[in-house]
Amino acid sequence: MGNNSTHPTAIVRIQRFNPETDAKPHMQEFEVELKPGTTVLDALHEIKTHQDGSLTFRRSCRHAICGSCAMHVNGKNELVCNAPLKERLDRHGRITIRPLPYLPILKDLVVDRSSFWEQYLRVKPWLTPPEDAPEKEFRMSPEEVAALNNAETCIMCGACYSSCQIVGLTKEYIGPHALLKAFLRVMDPRDSIPGERLADLDGTDGVYRCRTIFNCIDACPKNLNPTLAIETLRKLAQKREAFEQARIERQKHLDEPIPAR
Ligand code: FES
Repeated sequence: MGNNSTHPTAIVRIQRFNPETDAKPHMQEFEVELKPGTTVLDALHEIKTHQDGSLTFRRSCRHAICGSCAMHVNGKNELVCNAPLKERLDRHGRITIRPLPYLPILKDLVVDRSSFWEQYLRVKPWLTPPEDAPEKEFRMSPEEVAALNNAETCIMCGACYSSCQIVGLTKEYIGPHALLKAFLRVMDPRDSIPGERLADLDGTDGVYRCRTIFNCIDACPKNLNPTLAIETLRKLAQKREAFEQARIERQKHLDEPIPAR
């Protein structure tokens, strides 16, 4: 970094690991200019473009939508494209960036998300509509939409999954991200297999493996609540047959206008 800059600078400590040359990860420090509006992702780009082209990280949208830039910043998972660098600096003007915890490191800040996606597919994340689905549209009441608790806004960034200590213990656990998606499908009046879903989640690696540590809530950049979703699934699993029957009745009226309240 030259001394002609009019901007203050920040120290960015990054965990590095090259599987071809390193036996284990190590920390490396860089110095970047602290321009107004600089995000943590901007700092990583600055380093990669002007200081060390070998620095490896994932990102795509830069607007907190694609979920690819989740990293461990100062001990907390977050989307670095949505993190102001200035607000993340400690009193020494430093920030520490590591890859998401509990996942194998491929290189530098890039982790292997295979178990994340395998568990996601395990809960059949797609909607399964009834065979006699309405030709035009499904009707959902405001209450039914509210019951989804914004779960549809999950961007699959992995921040919750890699903050979960149960995931740290075993990759057999379905995980908060996939259980949140299962909750979304179970609660959706358009889905025709809620009973099958609840039965699948009832095993030792499903809803009962959660220890309500709440790390997933703290980590979610979209302010979602996987813990509450898991708790709801537990309760529904205990009255699975009645819930399934209620869904069958509900689906006889999927194309009818919602009665005024
Ligand atoms: S780059 Fe897409 S969420 Fe950050």
